Amino acid sequence: MTREATALFRQTFDAAPSVGGSAPGRVNLIGEHTDYNGGPVLPMAIARRTVVMAGPGQPGVIEVISTRDGERRRVEFRREAGTGTTGFVVGVARALERQGIALAAGARLAIASDVPVGAGLASSAALTVSTAYALAALAGKKLPAKLAWVVGYQAEHDHVGVRCGTMDQTIAALGKRGHALLLECSSGATQQIPFTGTLLLVDTGVRHDLAHSAFNTRRAECEAAVAKLREVHPGLRWLALWPATEMSRLASLLPATLRARARHVVGESMRTRAAARLLERGRLGNFGRLMYQSHESCRRLYECSAPELDLVVQAAKRAGAMGARMTGAGWGGAALVLIRPRDAEYVSGIIRKAFERRFGRTPAITGLEGGAGARVERIPGANG
Ligand code: GLA
Repeated sequence: MTREATALFRQTFDAAPSVGGSAPGRVNLIGEHTDYNGGPVLPMAIARRTVVMAGPGQPGVIEVISTRDGERRRVEFRREAGTGTTGFVVGVARALERQGIALAAGARLAIASDVPVGAGLASSAALTVSTAYALAALAGKKLPAKLAWVVGYQAEHDHVGVRCGTMDQTIAALGKRGHALLLECSSGATQQIPFTGTLLLVDTGVRHDLAHSAFNTRRAECEAAVAKLREVHPGLRWLALWPATEMSRLASLLPATLRARARHVVGESMRTRAAARLLERGRLGNFGRLMYQSHESCRRLYECSAPELDLVVQAAKRAGAMGARMTGAGWGGAALVLIRPRDAEYVSGIIRKAFERRFGRTPAITGLEGGAGARVERIPGANG
């Protein structure tokens, strides 16, 4: 991707870029819809990345070209909010300036990515965090990873207005090859957990517009649940912090829908911490069982799955996979399947056939390759 972004830069701006930044997409192994509820998540960076190559431009102006939409755009970033990719870039530029990283010379950016959009692999966090690295480098500053995710989050959440949690930006910034990251979202505490399993990624190809509105509805439901539960626990800050020992009380305190959402969030938080401990001890079989349970909770209680995802998980189970679940926000996108390495072809075959029979098309099934977190990119060809 560095070569693609560099070539695009040269071709568009008729000059060489001076710096670059990149960040990975992610899968979430377990802990879905817990981040914005103050619970734990366990994401892992993948080998697919977004690369942003940058050079100076005109003061107050950012020009953007990306392989995705191919059109050169110009935005006065202190005055205009920007739309699409440019909106994310402006959000990053403004967040950096608030942190004292001034973009005195403006910027020209060329963006290339192989993180698919809408597949639940956090393409927008890869974009904001890679842009943060590139723009900071252009301003001559080294961006600490802990600041990079905050900048990415502010761009996406505050500027673009996606009501996401902090998982995607955090793993994009802090990801480490061969490791999943246990992130406790209420405290920000993180722990790198070695991951030695073999995963298949099954992209259902379903891209629901509904995902955006359904996501916001779930957030509102969780906020409503917290408001109700505060009547008995005035200090409750986040839904995920409801004590697991008081799970049965939820029945009398919440109406059916809110109760289901709360049971998912509290149960999923427990599962995620248990899953991290199992991974630490190399207990992949037990870890896989928690993946199945997590999927079932997403499907039944949080209602964020899709028939295509459910079919993949069922077929994986039938084929003897150790675990499987949807990953990311849901309502479409991709599923993860945990397998023994020797079973890759067999399990893929069963899933592919079952999917084709039911939906009349072939899902994209690939071996999942882990990746590294965000970094500054060197210009290909420079210094050898
Ligand atoms: C999206 C959001 C994340 C998280 C997941 C669901 O990816 O951006 O913050 O809420 O959905 O776990």
